[in-house]
Amino acid sequence: MNVEEARAAFPVLERLAYLNAGTFGPLARATVEAMHERLDRDLRDGRSGGRFMEEGARLREETRSRLAALLSVPPEHVALTTSTTRGCNIAVAGLRLKPGDEVVTTDNEHFGLLGPLHASGASVRVARLRGRSASDAFELIAAEVGPRTRLLALSHVSWLTGHVLPVDELRAAFDVPILVDGAQSVGAIPVDASGFDFYTVSGQKWLCGPDTTGALYVADPERLEVATPSYFAQQTYEPDGRFTAKEGAARFDSDWLPFASVAGLVAAIDSAPEWRFEAAAATARRCRALLLEAGIEVVTEPGHSTLVTFVPRGDPAETAAAAYENGVVVRDLTGTPWIRASCGYWTNEDDLERLLAAIVS
Ligand SMILES: Cc1ncc(COP(=O)(O)O)c(C=O)c1O
Repeated sequence: MNVEEARAAFPVLERLAYLNAGTFGPLARATVEAMHERLDRDLRDGRSGGRFMEEGARLREETRSRLAALLSVPPEHVALTTSTTRGCNIAVAGLRLKPGDEVVTTDNEHFGLLGPLHASGASVRVARLRGRSASDAFELIAAEVGPRTRLLALSHVSWLTGHVLPVDELRAAFDVPILVDGAQSVGAIPVDASGFDFYTVSGQKWLCGPDTTGALYVADPERLEVATPSYFAQQTYEPDGRFTAKEGAARFDSDWLPFASVAGLVAAIDSAPEWRFEAAAATARRCRALLLEAGIEVVTEPGHSTLVTFVPRGDPAETAAAAYENGVVVRDLTGTPWIRASCGYWTNEDDLERLLAAIVS
């Protein structure tokens, strides 16, 4: 598959310079066809019966295996969730943190991680990375770790700056559980989650899957409480709700995912080319270079991820809205003076030139 063939899978690219996979990836025709096929079957055959249940269970396991392969971990350690936010909630609630415990995070995080941290009741220590060089991140985060730290919780790739945060270095330096928010990494950059305690996936972003799909890697399922059980948590249960948990991380499966969504996610994962990471990194490099050539201040330092954040000359929300009217989809980052362009393996030079034209004019 070459770039033009890869682009042809995404009808939206025929019209728009779609640079917002950091929010929602473009949908491929094959993904939507897989969803339609599944829904047509439900329409025709109903949503009950042995075959329906068997097919659903098979689809769930297929999805778990695909996601596990993306994370380089065994499927028994992967729970199917509806989002990164849900994955963070499952991990953080399961740790049963108490007042007096501390969790360490950064000021580059999304509420999908911060909300669950706050709700845990632990004290949240925030390393201040904004305005600092990406190379300072390790020292700044390490300075917040102390004897009461029960969890390090941060993203692999910051949704704001596009910087890769020092998750590997933190893992190596501290013997404290680490939860990695993988919303902006899985499908965008190579990931090996096996060194971490918890690692989340959002299906709808860089995997270009349907909305409300995701996953959570759990290194040691036996040591995390099932704090918010779904029907999938149990093998058997008592009249008072006590239950024998399923084997492995499947006990953390968060909800009944629509089979159409699960089928769509498998199709989406299968349609990504092997060269996805190199190509996406190259388009992000090119995007940075073009912005700099045009005299635009770029926030994202070189050599990080597929997100390129920059400072538009005008108001970010107005600039992004005007770009949209010109067929260029980017995200203004609320509460900052920044706009973010998401560069995928499907992004081409024409998309980037359209971006430049839309924001420089
Ligand atoms: C870094 C990060 N974490 C979490 C989220 C929330 O993702 P989800 O909608 O899958 O919960 C986002 C969404 O933009 C994100 O960028």
